[in-house]
Amino acid sequence: MFRLSFILAIPFAAFFAAATSVPPELYSSIIPQKVLATYQKIPDPIQYPQITTTSGTWQLSGADQWTSGFFPAIVYALEERTRLCGASESNGLNIANWVDLGRALTSGLAALEIHNNNVGHDVGFLSFPFVYELQINPSNQTAKDGINNFAKLLAARYNPLVGCTRSWDGSPYFQVIIDNMMNLELLFLSADLTNNQTLRDIAISHADTTMANHIRADGGTWHVINYNETTGQVDSKQTVQGYSNDSTWTRGQAWAINGYLDLYERTNNQTYLDTSLKLANYFLSRMPSDGIVPWDFDAPTSPPPRPADSSAATIASYGFLRLAKVVTDEKSKWQNAAIDTLSKIIDLAFNPSWESILSNGTANWPAGNMLTGTIYGDYYFIKAGTELIKQGLSEC
Ligand SMILES: *[C@@H]1O[C@H](CO)[C@@H](O)[C@H](O)[C@H]1NC(C)=O
Ligand SMILES: *[C@@H]1O[C@H](CO)[C@@H](O)[C@H](O)[C@H]1NC(C)=O
Ligand SMILES: *[C@@H]1O[C@H](CO)[C@@H](O)[C@H](O)[C@H]1NC(C)=O
Ligand SMILES: *[C@@H]1O[C@H](CO)[C@@H](O)[C@H](O)[C@H]1NC(C)=O
Ligand SMILES: *[C@@H]1O[C@H](CO)[C@@H](O)[C@H](O)[C@H]1NC(C)=O
Ligand SMILES: *[C@@H]1O[C@H](CO)[C@@H](O)[C@H](O)[C@H]1NC(C)=O
Repeated sequence: MFRLSFILAIPFAAFFAAATSVPPELYSSIIPQKVLATYQKIPDPIQYPQITTTSGTWQLSGADQWTSGFFPAIVYALEERTRLCGASESNGLNIANWVDLGRALTSGLAALEIHNNNVGHDVGFLSFPFVYELQINPSNQTAKDGINNFAKLLAARYNPLVGCTRSWDGSPYFQVIIDNMMNLELLFLSADLTNNQTLRDIAISHADTTMANHIRADGGTWHVINYNETTGQVDSKQTVQGYSNDSTWTRGQAWAINGYLDLYERTNNQTYLDTSLKLANYFLSRMPSDGIVPWDFDAPTSPPPRPADSSAATIASYGFLRLAKVVTDEKSKWQNAAIDTLSKIIDLAFNPSWESILSNGTANWPAGNMLTGTIYGDYYFIKAGTELIKQGLSEC
């Protein structure tokens, strides 16, 4: 497939020449060095890095955060890279036994399976380390329990009248955020482990309801839908972490691209691939001419600030590469989109002096939070790098 699109691309010399080459920073030995240095700073009892300060120092906090699974997942993702590439001095992967580190870090997540205050809905991300563990040791009961317990917590948030699992608590409305498309893979995984088909049905219902209500005709997305819990009807739509209620917050859009790909991979239903393509095409169509993903596509450049969001850039890039893997045409379009987006964010935000891999993350600008590293932005940076190798676009 790749070979074919490569040959077809040759006549379009200008287009082909415009394609950037894969930036070497994706495979820098600085990355494993930073990850190991961060690991060595983790206290006992465990706290996890979430975002950095605006000068690049990780802020650690207890496990009860939606982002606590990402640092263990980063460590496992380096194990995945090592399986693919081997560990050498030149790639820097030889400095740790990543499985041991991943296992040690994951132990701190177990308490959340029973009860969590802050996380509630974002259990898909928290389950990532357990998912990696099962790839290494498919009979690890702790990892199976992790997945099943988190899935059960999520299923308990499902309201059949609305057709979705609940996101934020504490509103008079039943609020559902676009981010929660990223939870659905967890339900499929648990359905596989337990044979409980209800979990699959919940995932499909959440995806279909979100498809109907969160996505605009042009392919942009709202962040939050406020449903009336009594009637199941939409009350209002808004964008809490973006520029305005009717704007498109880029990280939410990037989550949705990946979430519908999860659904497509699980069901093989073309509707979900078409939805992901629509979301991704919207993302590309709104990309500013400098190629740097802003925090919100509709935020005006003036007056400033209009911060970038390096996490939206890496999450979207990973989604573009996943699209390239499954589409039957335009494969090179999506590969080039990923490489270009990554190149631009590397030029801006690959920051050797920071503890995070990337700077210029916008965790939540309306809450006053921008110009930091983010643990999820770094995670998808590593995932995109590995996916480029898997697709034969880069060597190890
Ligand atoms: C099983 O997985 C858990 C969670 O990742 C880990 O802490 C534990 O060390 C693993 N146990 C074995 C025997 O592999
Ligand atoms: C399947 O999962 C749902 C949601 O957690 C639960 O309500 C139901 O009891 C489970 N069914 C079985 C047979 O365990
Ligand atoms: C939901 O709808 C019912 C029936 O129309 C209404 O009485 C109730 O006030 C609504 N709830 C909210 C939070 O608006
Ligand atoms: C955004 O939408 C929410 C929900 O309808 C509403 O409460 C809020 O006032 C809106 N914000 C603006 C600035 O219009
Ligand atoms: C594919 O998904 C769409 C949207 O949920 C649904 O209407 C359709 O029935 C599904 N097709 C199949 C073959 O399951
Ligand atoms: C990127 O981060 C640097 C350092 O924090 C900041 O000065 C710059 O304005 C940021 N650029 C964008 C586009 O957000």
